[in-house]
Amino acid sequence: MIILGIETSCDDTGIALVECDPPSPRLWRAKQKCRILSNVISSQIKIHAPFGGVVPNLAARAHLKNIEPCLKETLKQAGNPKIDLIAVTQGPGLIPALLVGVNFAKALAYNWNLPIIGINHIEGHIYANWLNDSEIEFPVLCLVVSGGHTQLILMKNHGRYELLGETRDDAAGEAFDKVAKLLGLGYPGGPLISKHALEGNASAFDLPRPMINSKDFDFSFSGLKTAVLYKVRHFEVRPQNAEPFQHINDMAASFQQATIDVLVKKTIKAAKQHQPKTIILSGGVAANSELRKQMEKAVKDLEIKFQMPDIKLCTDNGAMIAAVAAYKKKLAPERDQLLFSANANLKLVA
Ligand code: KG4
Ligand code: ZN
Repeated sequence: MIILGIETSCDDTGIALVECDPPSPRLWRAKQKCRILSNVISSQIKIHAPFGGVVPNLAARAHLKNIEPCLKETLKQAGNPKIDLIAVTQGPGLIPALLVGVNFAKALAYNWNLPIIGINHIEGHIYANWLNDSEIEFPVLCLVVSGGHTQLILMKNHGRYELLGETRDDAAGEAFDKVAKLLGLGYPGGPLISKHALEGNASAFDLPRPMINSKDFDFSFSGLKTAVLYKVRHFEVRPQNAEPFQHINDMAASFQQATIDVLVKKTIKAAKQHQPKTIILSGGVAANSELRKQMEKAVKDLEIKFQMPDIKLCTDNGAMIAAVAAYKKKLAPERDQLLFSANANLKLVA
């Protein structure tokens, strides 16, 4: 079965073709594999960088301009295969951006007379882990860390989720982006913080680890960001004058380590309580090499299998959306398939 995956929930236009084992979604099997045939991503970083964050209407306009060229390129790279199913991100995300993808996908489904399914973006991040070769055993503990979400989810089987905890304020990726802005590093912050952290001392600044010892599995990152702000204000770091950037590098490393400490400790605590067979990491922040390294090391001590997507599949892409569709047990009846709408607040767990 060949699935076209379309993703436009934020600032990346992602379209991919993925080939999966089962001949139809109704013949779903537990141990099938998915193979990426093509995965085209058009980034909007240059458009949003001057604003220090994503501007929803500019994102929608850029999706509108890029979506058709992306589709053509995806089809060309995969050698124009026969498509069996269209999967598109339904939400959560920025509504102007989601609407472009959903309406484009529906138009394709109508014109090409193909089945279509709306996919939850968070589920897409989780299923990026099913785009490589290793087998994932349930129950799975998932840490989803992106620009919009920070959640610990217990996945009992395909499509069966229990939310264990989530952020009460900023998402981890959002904190990376805001701290990078405070330090004058630019946008998007995650990759810039991790680059500067490589040259910094993670113990240079004493920063809080919010909620690290709380009894639940919730997170909070806004206080950590404010702690960085106070240190910047009190001239412990001087973005404008810092020469040769050592303060900036030290703050980037200290902030990154504080965030990682909380993410790792909470994940390990959840693993000890819920005894999963596999722990998976996903979402844009999972591209952070220090988080990948430290989480892998902490999980090793528990003797639980650890899995994370390739770095390029951590951030938004169409392949992860297609991968979810491959594991859906059934589609909506044909006459209802075009009736779903983009939903900015779509929940994975009701
Ligand atoms: O999953 P994603 O592409 O979009 C959302 O669903 O939000 O995640 C984007 C987020 C941004 O906040 C970005 O700064 C962060 O992921 N990110 C990183 C890294 N690469 C991207 N954060 C930390 N380290 C990175 N290397
Ligand atoms: Zn995402």
